[in-house]
Amino acid sequence: MPDQNEKFDELHNRLKAHQQEHVLRFWDEISDSQRKQLATQIEEVDLVQLDALIAGQDAEQDFAAMAKAAAPPPSVNAEGSGANWTVAEARQRGEQAIRDGQVGAVIVAGGQGTRLGFPQPKGMFPIGPVSNRTLFQFFADRLIAIQQAYSVKIPLFVMTSEATDDETHAYFKEHDYLGLSPNDVVIFKQGTMPAVDAETGKLLLAEKDSLALSPDGHGGTVAALQRSGCLQEAKDRGVRQLAYIQVDNPLAHLCDPTLLGHHLMAESEMTTQVIRKRYATERVGNVVSIDGQVQIIEYSDLPDSAAEATDQEGQLRLWAGNIAVHIIDVDFLQRASDSSDALPFHRARKKVPYLDAAGLVHDPAQPNATKFERFIFDLLPQAKNAFVAEVLPCQGFAPVKNAEGAATDTASLARQAISELHQSWIESSGGVVDSGVQVEINPLFAINPEELSGKISPKMQVQTDRYFDTLSRL
Ligand code: UD1
Repeated sequence: MPDQNEKFDELHNRLKAHQQEHVLRFWDEISDSQRKQLATQIEEVDLVQLDALIAGQDAEQDFAAMAKAAAPPPSVNAEGSGANWTVAEARQRGEQAIRDGQVGAVIVAGGQGTRLGFPQPKGMFPIGPVSNRTLFQFFADRLIAIQQAYSVKIPLFVMTSEATDDETHAYFKEHDYLGLSPNDVVIFKQGTMPAVDAETGKLLLAEKDSLALSPDGHGGTVAALQRSGCLQEAKDRGVRQLAYIQVDNPLAHLCDPTLLGHHLMAESEMTTQVIRKRYATERVGNVVSIDGQVQIIEYSDLPDSAAEATDQEGQLRLWAGNIAVHIIDVDFLQRASDSSDALPFHRARKKVPYLDAAGLVHDPAQPNATKFERFIFDLLPQAKNAFVAEVLPCQGFAPVKNAEGAATDTASLARQAISELHQSWIESSGGVVDSGVQVEINPLFAINPEELSGKISPKMQVQTDRYFDTLSRL
């Protein structure tokens, strides 16, 4: 073990070569254990990469030019048109892959839910309109139902971040892994990236013993799956496709056989499920094709003129909105994780509290810092035969992002969407749900309207709020 002076010299030399030695300015004031923490954080920063990012050497994308060149992506529509195979064929193919144990699930749950105003990991947010089940429980129930239906084990990989890791572990333990087998659940942590001063490019200190760090974006999934051994575990289990979702969308079709089937029929290395945007500037990423490569241009990066452009039928030309439900080929993911620059970094100007040279904390009112994040969907352009499959928003997209009172993406709107979807299932079986009554169907009771129709009477009338779960007697 080097003594503290040696450690200081070693870190100082490293940092000085990149003009970042100021982060050691409180070294003499902090304890040995604090020094250890700071040293570990510094050692984890790739200073060469950071220099390049600060200097803007990594390719900045010209979004206006991309938007000009963008065309609709190769896709299959919700009702099945656009593909050389039928929905039934896709479903059969996907079911076979699930039955054969070739499918694993990934839920990214590293975000802090700042916009939602929920102080715990978002996965612990109660969302069931009648049951009050959490988002994590929603997906666990869905996975259990699929495992039972196909008599198979599906490993679940849950990605957390520094901010959500401890609580997520505790939550799964305290709740008996939500009914899943603990052997089939792996919780792994994403990496971090340091924030820098937006003007000077200097690393910011959050504390005397800590850099200002934040999660490295959901693109961090690629490196974190590899680093944690999850990718190897998936391969060892015979998993060939990973079904990826974000924790914030309770309607996400995790491990959907039809989506998997479209992906396999298209011989695609990455397939993404989209909605038809409901209006031009809807705040979803735009899935487009540029020079034959599928890619996503974030809503914030797409010029309005491109977002609003229509085709001959008056429909939005760039119609496909990203809902962050992807199927990713495991070998492709392995290739991507073998190369450190498979994914570009995106910059965001953010308000980041920091310690000044005198040790005083500043909580800036205006964005003062640059954060760097990677996005998983930047894998799409590299994927062979990348493909897009449409789902209707009412069936697959009700994200929980904003606090109550916002016009879109609130928990009450998501609860309403869940209840309305399940009401439509009951009605398609001939049943009736009285106005104002909430309904919720646990996938263990029925995972789709076809399964439901065999379980409820066509004369069913639901007069009070009702949760159909495994114990429901009809
Ligand atoms: C995201 C997409 C957007 C899409 C929308 C659909 C990006 C950049 N944009 O927008 O194209 O239309 O979802 O809902 O992704 N997460 C992590 N670690 C991180 C960052 C995020 O696990 O470091 C997870 C969060 O827990 C969350 C999800 O990724 O589940 C989405 O992240 P967020 O930053 O909220 O993306 P949006 O702006 O909502």
